[in-house]
Amino acid sequence: MKVTFSVFLREQFAILSKPASYAPSLAGKTVVITGANVGLGFEAAQHPARLHPGRLILACRDPKKGKDAADAIRRVTGCENVEACTLDIASNASLKAFAEKFAKEIGKLDILVENAGVNVPKMERTDDGWEKNIGINHLGTAHLALRMLPFLLQASQPRVVILASDVHYLTTDPEGLNQVDVLHRLNSDKQTNKFESFNGIQRYNVSKTLNVLWGEELSKHIPSSSSLAVSTVNPGFCVSSLLRDQPFFLRVFNHLVGRSTEVGSRTIVHAAVAPALQGKTGVYLSSCRITEPSDFVISKEGQEAEKKIWAETLDILGQVDPEVTHVADQYLSK
Ligand SMILES: NC(=O)c1ccc[n+]([C@@H]2O[C@H](COP(=O)([O-])OP(=O)(O)OC[C@H]3O[C@@H](n4cnc5c(N)ncnc54)[C@H](OP(=O)(O)O)[C@@H]3O)[C@@H](O)[C@H]2O)c1
Repeated sequence: MKVTFSVFLREQFAILSKPASYAPSLAGKTVVITGANVGLGFEAAQHPARLHPGRLILACRDPKKGKDAADAIRRVTGCENVEACTLDIASNASLKAFAEKFAKEIGKLDILVENAGVNVPKMERTDDGWEKNIGINHLGTAHLALRMLPFLLQASQPRVVILASDVHYLTTDPEGLNQVDVLHRLNSDKQTNKFESFNGIQRYNVSKTLNVLWGEELSKHIPSSSSLAVSTVNPGFCVSSLLRDQPFFLRVFNHLVGRSTEVGSRTIVHAAVAPALQGKTGVYLSSCRITEPSDFVISKEGQEAEKKIWAETLDILGQVDPEVTHVADQYLSK
């Protein structure tokens, strides 16, 4: 599917139901939301807080911001079962520490919302050496999903929700993703073609295409004995701090047509709890509807790229965290 400007505008102003009108109780369930101190994550966390969760964990990179967000959500919703936990998905060490703490202190996970993300217009690297849009939005997200898998598989109807975006439709020359070692190529200082050379807007779009492809491929490796559902979600163009480093005109456009983060957060919570999505996995959602992703994603080349990216991601993560390889071998189908 292609998204035209008029389709984009129609979606922006679509009316979306509030989760309270259809969502079941989350009593006894554990929910983790990453990047929940601000923006879409902060708004999204307030919906489960009103559904009586067993535990609602705000996984934030800044402990003070995480604690302030947990305090605010407790105050606004009256839910006492909200806690903050430190997690920087740009850091392998932080990801490992989070997973180990989770294993020791909690053990079962019902809903994982992978919301944390960045939109970085300049070539910058994480401390682990990855270009930030790819390192955080794709590798950090994939790493967390894999480390949380053993805990998710202990729950009865678990869900993983990955924040993608409709900008994945705007990726230029997406066929460039269908190359061996594409993540390393995108990270190299010696880019050999236009697709690989750094362009901030395109790099973010590529990272969101990676989210769609990787989420879809993850769903294909969940063993048939598990009802774990994986979805990727477009929250719509929302007014948040995501574009803080982008040019002025883009921020003005964002304010003119952007959804509020509260409205955008309904799409995330819909993917995480809507009974209508029970049994649906590997889907891309937009405006609370299953939607066809880009022509590239569904093409033969896109599907080949998906497999290559899956294998390269497992390889990269396995080298820095052997537990990832162990999880893939023990819990995922080939
Ligand atoms: N806003 C939109 O129009 C839009 C559209 C489509 C998709 N999305 C996606 O929605 C998600 C949330 O974006 P947003 O608009 O709410 O942006 P935002 O207001 O900038 O919030 C991003 C959140 O992610 C956190 N984060 C960033 N890097 C992190 C890291 N390394 N480890 C842990 N947390 C990290 C941020 O923490 P700090 O506060 O510490 O920086 C913040 O809590 C992103 O994945 C984005 O790509 C947004």
